[in-house]
Amino acid sequence: MSQQLVLEVSGLRKVFKELVAVDDVSFAIAAGETYGLLGPNGAGKTTSISMACGILERDGGTVRVDGHDLTTSSTTAKAAIGLVPQDLAIYPDLTARENLMFFGRLYDMRAKPLKDRVGEVLAIIGLSDRADDRAGQFSGGMKRRLNIGIGLLHRPRLLVLDEPTVGVDPQSRNAILESVEHLSDEGMAVLYTTHYMEEAERLCDRVGIIDEGLIKAEGTRAQLVSMIGERDRVSLTAEGNIAAAVAALQAAPAVDRASAADGSIVLVVDGARRALPDLLRRASEAGADVTGVDVSEPNLEAVFLHLTGKALRD
Ligand SMILES: Nc1ncnc2c1ncn2[C@@H]1O[C@H](COP(=O)(O)OP(=O)(O)OP(=O)(O)O)[C@@H](O)[C@H]1O
Ligand SMILES: [Mg+2]
Repeated sequence: MSQQLVLEVSGLRKVFKELVAVDDVSFAIAAGETYGLLGPNGAGKTTSISMACGILERDGGTVRVDGHDLTTSSTTAKAAIGLVPQDLAIYPDLTARENLMFFGRLYDMRAKPLKDRVGEVLAIIGLSDRADDRAGQFSGGMKRRLNIGIGLLHRPRLLVLDEPTVGVDPQSRNAILESVEHLSDEGMAVLYTTHYMEEAERLCDRVGIIDEGLIKAEGTRAQLVSMIGERDRVSLTAEGNIAAAVAALQAAPAVDRASAADGSIVLVVDGARRALPDLLRRASEAGADVTGVDVSEPNLEAVFLHLTGKALRD
């Protein structure tokens, strides 16, 4: 990748007594790129990012932030990172604005620029109209958004979000995903951990699939999905001359396999969305009346299952 790398971690390792929480984790994130660590509970996501941010001592591996080596004492490298922890770190008795002002002062931001920045951050996290309400009265999702705002105050080059949508209402969840997309568009590098496949697919330019402290595979969604060689599956509910339709569909260039299964035609297709109009035309010309279409594309959940033999969620 030709863009500047904001974060490079290599060979990260952490052992708690006998438990190897992180075995060997490496990845890199460029400016403007969103990288996802997708894995189930206990996979080693939080432990990995804690080492990447320099808040947890590592037993092995290296971390470079903006080209500078990171140690737990290096302040320059750490200043480039905004960490939004999995557990909330906000004061319930303070308003949203007061929380942001308080943490901004901790970052040594001067009064006037801080006040302006707090206004900007409130807008980014969609809490401008609730700025002067106490955080303790917020919904779970609003608390989470405030937690994210704190991580953004000092305009980090890298934003690290640890499962920011767990236990959040759908409206806040969407607001969180939209702000991450917006920040990424503005050039921020984002490291995003989740066990929600949908979030990884929507947000992340590249995804590292992590399980038992190891990155099992890494790449874009398309690269990961093609790795398991799964094609799209199309099911057509049909009446009429199904046998003729199956033969006609089998001859379509995008179709890998076509078969009939009581009242429906099941197809294995390359690029179902593109091919669908042609498939429907062929079925109709062969004398089948299609009344329903169901397309299932392979996804990261299927990749995870393939790599680990288990589901992402229990
Ligand atoms: N301080 C600690 N002491 C002992 N074991 C720990 C500690 N922190 C984490 N672990 C263990 O290390 C493993 C990885 O934990 P980690 O929190 O990194 O997982 P995770 O992927 O973030 O999971 P989750 O999705 O539940 O947040 C787990 O088995 C966990 O119990
Ligand atoms: Mg975690």
